Amino acid sequence: MSQTLDVLGNITAEQFLAEYWQKKPLLVRNAIPEITGLLEPKDVMELALDENITARLIKQKDKDPNQWTVKSSPLIKGDFQKMPKLWTLLVQAVDHYSFDMAEMWKKFPFIPQWRRDDIMVSYAPKGGSVGKHFDFYDVFLVQGHGHRRWQLGQMCDESTEFVAGQPLKLLPEIEVSFDEVLAPGDLLYVPPGLAHYGVAEDECLTYSFGFRMPNVADMMDSVGDTFSKYDILSNPLQDIKRDQATAIGEITSLELEYMREKLLTQLQSPHHLNDALMCLISQPTYPENIPENDAIGTGDLEEALEAGYSIKLEPASRLLYSSVGDETRFWANGESLNISTAFSANLKLIADGQAIPLNESLYDQDILDDLAELLNSSIVMLLPADEV
Ligand code: SIN
Ligand code: CO
Repeated sequence: MSQTLDVLGNITAEQFLAEYWQKKPLLVRNAIPEITGLLEPKDVMELALDENITARLIKQKDKDPNQWTVKSSPLIKGDFQKMPKLWTLLVQAVDHYSFDMAEMWKKFPFIPQWRRDDIMVSYAPKGGSVGKHFDFYDVFLVQGHGHRRWQLGQMCDESTEFVAGQPLKLLPEIEVSFDEVLAPGDLLYVPPGLAHYGVAEDECLTYSFGFRMPNVADMMDSVGDTFSKYDILSNPLQDIKRDQATAIGEITSLELEYMREKLLTQLQSPHHLNDALMCLISQPTYPENIPENDAIGTGDLEEALEAGYSIKLEPASRLLYSSVGDETRFWANGESLNISTAFSANLKLIADGQAIPLNESLYDQDILDDLAELLNSSIVMLLPADEV
């Protein structure tokens, strides 16, 4: 990947990763012009009222804009009555509801799919904002409609203090080192920890392409959950060689060392540990967005073979793979999958974001079994080939 990319303002992915990613901001004018108009303000309002959507309505009091309120979804029409002058509506995971939005992730082919979180949209009238703050994750902010003024400031961390008594984690001050107005199609990359403050200049939609990384506490939880699936690990340990009586209230350091050793031996098993990590990393952030499909059987698939369908990843699902030597293992939505060798190469392509045709090359009982199972659990979906 050494050609320059429009989305990065004509630098290469390698330059971006070396100089900017997780380090410093990057402003790119007219980076994604095709994003403008994908959603209109009225679409965002409609989505916000959908009972399955994750959304927040943030308001600033007219009398004192430093007083904030936040109402989380489910939002109802009544929440939008008697609105103050300054407000922002945040709607999460719009890429799960709009295939066109989901396609926009392809603008960032240099960051793997497992790092993606979701695309959030913010809708605000002139003056609206979510306040001065920082995030622990990377974000590409892309202007979709109207204009937003962005100020960037200092680096923050766990020890940074927030304004007391507010429902948002707001910074008291921002030491402005960047001050620009973004127009539709413009992009601003903000690394984790960097203070930022975006204020709508007019009626404005801003998309946040957010990324995620697991934390160590969640990894530990997943190790516990995953290891408990292995029967052999659920059997009590044998007693340590007990050749002399010890004080009955004491557990000796040798006994503790023995148990630690048993634990650490298992933690060093890459097979189990990778399983735990992949189960965690493949967990969807919004499992409620994964659609429930009508059951499909291999017979239905045989009938569909000639009808011109393509198979692609369901946008709300997470499908990942890991290859060690010749062996490829798959995980989806927090669980490991059993996939036949015959389907493995195609499923890798699907996990990589490609749509593959449902045609006679897939006419194999193992493949059709895999496919039916993947469709029934909404990990993949069928689309008429001309809609892909
Ligand atoms: C916004 O779009 O107003 C907020 C996005 C962010 O600050 O991360
Ligand atoms: Co932010």
